[in-house]
Amino acid sequence: MQIFLDSAKYDEIENWLTQGVVDGVTTNPSIMLKDSVYDCEAGARRLCRLLGSRPLSVEVTSNNPREMLEQGRTFAGWAENVVVKIPIVNERGESCLGVIHGLSGEGIAVNTTAILSFNQAILAVKAGAAYVSIFAGRIADEGNDAAVVIRNVRQWLDQWSYAAKIIVGSIRAVIDIQQAALAGAHIVTIPPQFLPKMVDHKYTRDTVRQFNEDARKAQAQIAHVQAAAAVHG
Ligand code: E4P
Repeated sequence: MQIFLDSAKYDEIENWLTQGVVDGVTTNPSIMLKDSVYDCEAGARRLCRLLGSRPLSVEVTSNNPREMLEQGRTFAGWAENVVVKIPIVNERGESCLGVIHGLSGEGIAVNTTAILSFNQAILAVKAGAAYVSIFAGRIADEGNDAAVVIRNVRQWLDQWSYAAKIIVGSIRAVIDIQQAALAGAHIVTIPPQFLPKMVDHKYTRDTVRQFNEDARKAQAQIAHVQAAAAVHG
């Protein structure tokens, strides 16, 4: 399974890259705004350089299919590792499958976003999406079980040998990451604030403290034995 960061924070991404756990990054206009990246192009180009060959998802911001296609082509021209995020429908509920199909047909990697159901996911894959972003938190907001959607989409992809990858986003708690991983997500995109919670454990700290203290005691014993030998020898 891969881990992406759901963030536009350069320093956070750099930090977790050096720790070897980041396979890519996803953004959306709300994340860019929250992380003070107001110039999408400059911010995306900078993150793409930081990521090397790892993918960066950047989302279109129009309801109009023609403008979506133009934005998608423009974004894809910024760097080799840009993945264009297209919502499954626009604000009015109109299908964006034609945009997904058009960009994918031009060789542009598409991440279909804001997916809340099995049916949306399979249509996005049929249209040519390389990634389908299933929004776990927003599925749960509506009283539905994200793990069921993830498991069903994964089973369908495997059954028909589609290469598309499931990204699980809209992570609200560490338990969402665990559930997504176990339900068959190829990728979980994690807001960086959850990574310290995933890695740390109070009892691990106590365990490491015990080992360090005992190592210091062993060193003291060596010093004690050497001092006694010097006196008697
Ligand atoms: C990731 O690709 C999504 O844009 C993001 O996880 C959405 O999260 P939210 O539901 O917390 O806005």
